Amino acid sequence: MKMLIVFTCIILISVLGACRYSPDSPIGFSLPKGDLLQGEKVFIHYQCQACHVLDGYEDKALVKEFDTPIPLGGTTSTIKTYAQLVTSVINPSHKLAHRNNSIKEKLTNDDGRSKMRVFNDVMTVQELIDLVTFLQPKYQVKPVNYTTYGVYRML
Ligand code: HEC
Repeated sequence: MKMLIVFTCIILISVLGACRYSPDSPIGFSLPKGDLLQGEKVFIHYQCQACHVLDGYEDKALVKEFDTPIPLGGTTSTIKTYAQLVTSVINPSHKLAHRNNSIKEKLTNDDGRSKMRVFNDVMTVQELIDLVTFLQPKYQVKPVNYTTYGVYRML
């Protein structure tokens, strides 16, 4: 009996130990809350619709880069968390979304990187924050816990 208790404890300790977050964990990642209307402007300004479709938005003047533009939002995407949504904008090749066969065109270049344009050199952090605030409600993603600011008092 004693052996059983000791054995169970050893298993419990090793399982709990394995739960510690690795340095690469996205846990704790949080951007401040952005401005949804500004985010909409960012979305239009950077011409995301050259390759994407988003319900309720259309820009006929844009030259389309894909015969079947990639849909943004909805429930079919593999994007499930806020961190994945941010990642898909700033590091599109990180985890290419699995898609159904409706898109026949190649979404990647020959080197395996996503054909999505990288905006990191041109988009400000504030624009990214606003853009993600705009896109998040279009996805069924787990909302982020924004930083809550304490009340600072001067003595
Ligand atoms: C030159 C074409 C191109 C442009 C411009 C572009 N994207 Fe993309 N984007 C892609 C491709 C291709 C993918 C699919 C990669 C994959 O996930 O397989 C993608 C994937 C995404 C995804 C993940 C989609 C999902 O639901 O799984 C998001 C979010 C996204 N793009 C946002 C944006 C935003 C925001 C902009 C504008 C700032 C933008 N993209 C501009 C080509 C583009």
